[in-house]
Formats: sequence, structure tokens, C-alpha cells
Amino acid sequence: MAEILAQEEALETACRLLAAGEPVAIPTETVYGLAADATNGEAVARIFEVKGRPRFNPLIAHVADLEMAERIAEFSPLASCLARAFWPGPLTLVLPHRESSGVHPLVTAGLDTIALRCPQGFGREAIARLGRPLAAPSANISGRVTGTTAQAVNAALGERIRLIVDGGPTKVGLESTIVKVEDHALTLLRPGGLAVEEIERVAGVPVKRGAKGVQAPGMLASHYAPHARIRLNAAEVLPGEALLAFGPDRARGAQVARKVLNLSPSGDLREAAANLFSHLSALDAAGAGTIAVEPVPAHGLGEAINDRLARAAAPRDNDRQEA
Ligand code: TXA
Ligand code: MG
Repeated sequence: MAEILAQEEALETACRLLAAGEPVAIPTETVYGLAADATNGEAVARIFEVKGRPRFNPLIAHVADLEMAERIAEFSPLASCLARAFWPGPLTLVLPHRESSGVHPLVTAGLDTIALRCPQGFGREAIARLGRPLAAPSANISGRVTGTTAQAVNAALGERIRLIVDGGPTKVGLESTIVKVEDHALTLLRPGGLAVEEIERVAGVPVKRGAKGVQAPGMLASHYAPHARIRLNAAEVLPGEALLAFGPDRARGAQVARKVLNLSPSGDLREAAANLFSHLSALDAAGAGTIAVEPVPAHGLGEAINDRLARAAAPRDNDRQEA
């Protein structure tokens, strides 16, 4: 069972666990977040494991201030203006991701944009003390109602995590508003705790309401897709193919592969999840026309890994996203 500590006495314990790669439930002003070190792939994989998320949606990286944010993403003048006006607060900005950010690719699901938010209160203190961003989706089980009290988080996740930091009921009670910033244009990706009118007042430009299917989690049209074709459940490697391996046993013909990367030589799904996006892009960069993928078991994090692989393997001209 999770230990529940009042936020006034939890900072040191929370930071110790976070630094060790453990997910910790923390209060923010919007909703409770299930936080993990955003620079540690296995820690981020554990978020998905704990939440039982069947797919790797990109997560929000939480920062302590604008300075930390600017090391992670490129801020246009408009983006800086919004951050200055509303941070810390219930606004998430989707911005171009800097390659040198140190944020693990599992956080962005391999996208070249990143969602950033500076939260109020405990989360911000913890991030400042760690000196690293925290990835944190809402602290609920996937598809269930979002936790706005430590008790609700405990009921949902208490058996799966070690620490819940109790900050009382959250002030906003609704997730942050997510806005994508492209130069001078703003697009609403998710309505939330900050009214769009307030954003427009400060920005001086209208916020475009995204095309219907873009607003809800899991409906992103821009998920990472490699250039190479993806061939799933490969028992054999064909000449010229690259191989995305899993576990100790190799597909036939692996020695002729243009390049081989193993998601987890020992067959550990958490390690595999942490390596998924970086290995796919490294194999893609090797220039093979096709990446053969060894079978990955479907249980635990394997479900999300297989979901992501299946999307990467889907025909490109059929870019329609499911709900
Ligand atoms: O208030 C909140 O935003 C809470 C607290 C904990 O900060 N967090 C939260 O996270 O609601 P989550 O993971 O439940 O929702 C994050 C949303 C998802 O819908 C995801 O698709 C979207 O942010 N997102 C993340 N990165 C994105 C990106 N690069 N482009 C577009 N959408 C992105
Ligand atoms: Mg959520």
C-alpha cells in the first residue's frame, strides 16, 4: 500500500523516490499527477505500467520555471508571453522540442513537439529540488475518473505505488488547458482549467479550435512514424532489413540484418518500453527500407508497445486516427 504523506513533510521522501526512478503521486493545482523523472526512460515506463495505459500517449513534462522550460523547448515570443502570464498555472504549451533537452523520448512518444507546464505548489518545489523535469499524467487508472484528492488517488493507485503526497483537494479540479504554439498561431488541443478567452486576451490572437479528432487524448494525428516500413512478428530477417529485437532469442537470419537493436535482451517489458522510440528512430536512421520486429508479448506494458508498433506499421496513406 502507498504511504500517504502531507505535502508539508513529503518533499524529501518524494524527491528521494523520484530520483531513484519511482513514480510518486503528487498534488498540482489542477489534478493529482502520477509523476516520474522525465529524463529516465524506465521511470517513465513505470507511469504507463501503473496507470495501465494501453498505449503510449505523449505526457506533459512539468518544469519549475521558464528557464528550465527554455532548455527543453523552443519558445517563440508568443510562447514566452503566455508562459510569463500564466505560469505557474493550469496552462500546458505544446512547443518544438529541443533535441538536447534530456527528456526521454517515451515522454513525447517520439514526437518532435513537447507539452510543457509549470504547476503550482508541491510539484514545482519537487521539480526545483530535483533539478529535472517530471513527466506526469493525471493520477488515475486509464479511462477512469481523474483524481482530485489523495483519497481518490489512493483508491485507484494505492496498491501500485509507494507514495502519495497529500495536498488536499485540488484547487482547479480540472486538467490544464493545452494549447499548441506555432510561431504566431495558437491551437486548442484540450480545453481545461484556464479559459480560452483569458489566453486570447493575453495573446492578442484568436485560439483556433482544433479539428475535431485532435482534442482528446490518444487522438493525435502527429504520432511518430518511421520512414521505413515496419514488419511485425518477424520470425525471419530478410536481406537488407533492420531488426528490432526483443529478448534473448534471435529471429532467423538476424546476422544479415543491416542493423540490430534489442528492446530488452533479457525480455523485460519496462526496459523495452523505455527503448522503443529511440531504437525505432535509430533503426530508421540506418536507412533500411524495412524494419523487421520480433514478437513482443502482449501482457503488461507489452500491450502499449504492440499498439505503438501496430500504428507505426499501419499504411501511411491511411493516416486517419482512431478514437
Ligand atoms: O492538469 C494537467 O494537465 C495534468 C496535471 C497532472 O498536470 N496532467 C494531465 O496529463 O492531464 P495527461 O497525460 O492525462 O494528459 C496530457 C495530454 C494528453 O492528452 C496528450 O495527448 C497531450 O497532453 N499531449 C502531450 N504531449 C503532446 C504533444 N507533443 N502534442 C500534443 N498533445 C500532447
Ligand atoms: Mg489524463
